[in-house]
Amino acid sequence: MKNDRITLPIAGIREENSTLRTYYFDSGLKAAPGQFIMLTVFGQGEKPFSLLDAGPTSFSLTVKRLGAFTQELFTLKEGDLVSVRGPYGKSFSKSPGRVLMVGGGFATPPLKFLAKKLRNSGVDYLVNINGARTADDLLYVDDFQELCDRSLIATDDGSQGHKGTSVDIMRDVLTEDNFDKIYISGPERMVDAAVPVARENNIPFEVNLERYMKCGVGICGSCVMDPTGLILCMEGPILDGETLSAVDDFGVAHRDKTGRRQRI
Ligand SMILES: Cc1cc2nc3c(=O)[nH]c(=O)nc-3n(C[C@H](O)[C@H](O)[C@H](O)COP(=O)(O)OP(=O)(O)OC[C@H]3O[C@@H](n4cnc5c(N)ncnc54)[C@H](O)[C@@H]3O)c2cc1C
Ligand code: FES
Repeated sequence: MKNDRITLPIAGIREENSTLRTYYFDSGLKAAPGQFIMLTVFGQGEKPFSLLDAGPTSFSLTVKRLGAFTQELFTLKEGDLVSVRGPYGKSFSKSPGRVLMVGGGFATPPLKFLAKKLRNSGVDYLVNINGARTADDLLYVDDFQELCDRSLIATDDGSQGHKGTSVDIMRDVLTEDNFDKIYISGPERMVDAAVPVARENNIPFEVNLERYMKCGVGICGSCVMDPTGLILCMEGPILDGETLSAVDDFGVAHRDKTGRRQRI
């Protein structure tokens, strides 16, 4: 499908909670965990969404209802048409050894996709930390339980699992266990807190970052990060620790839809 836009019906919708839905499509998509597609809702433009899963006959996305675009998407029903192009961006690398995944909020879809791929490719040991504000906001609890050797939960209000953040648990897990690789995907504040912990433990890591993306293919410049001019839609959204250390904008600033730089 790459670079070609296809128009297709929504094959299924699963309500995850009052503000999160998973959309299923019956069309094959060759994509890897961490990559994203550009989704058009007719009359509302298009936005990037990470893949929750993709295979020879289907793909899926989990979407949080936020502003005008996602509100319009939430009015659509099974059988209604949308259009999709992609996949775009760099995926997570596939580490075969002992792997820790640290996720937060509705940025966990690529980690669920990654867990499935790692499990299928014979990962030695896989631990997932799933963080959210409340128990109701947690995603894919049963899936992570099934796919991982150990699956831990953190909620800000303590309504399920450990009371605190996924980074609190990450610190504890790293005192008990050794890992070859850490994958991090969450709100930027969470990622910003997790990165120093990975660095202190000298464990190679990759992060999933989000920036305002209009084109997804390196043309518009809306996702560019200072000072290197890194084009996140093409060189990311997955970045390794070395690449990330050259980006001053991380945890500090992003561009709004007009391209103006704003503090996070
Ligand atoms: C690589 C990537 C993967 C993403 N994956 C998911 C996902 O799996 N699930 C999901 O629910 N959302 C995902 N998003 C965010 C999604 O693209 C939309 O930004 C979000 O749904 C808000 O759209 P809205 O118009 O409804 O809300 P708005 O009210 O317009 O925006 C809400 C917030 O999102 C930011 N935003 C708006 N448009 C964009 C844009 N085109 N790119 C980046 N940020 C934007 C705004 O600055 C604002 O902070 C992803 C974004 C990127 C860049
Ligand atoms: S979104 Fe247009 S250059 Fe990256």
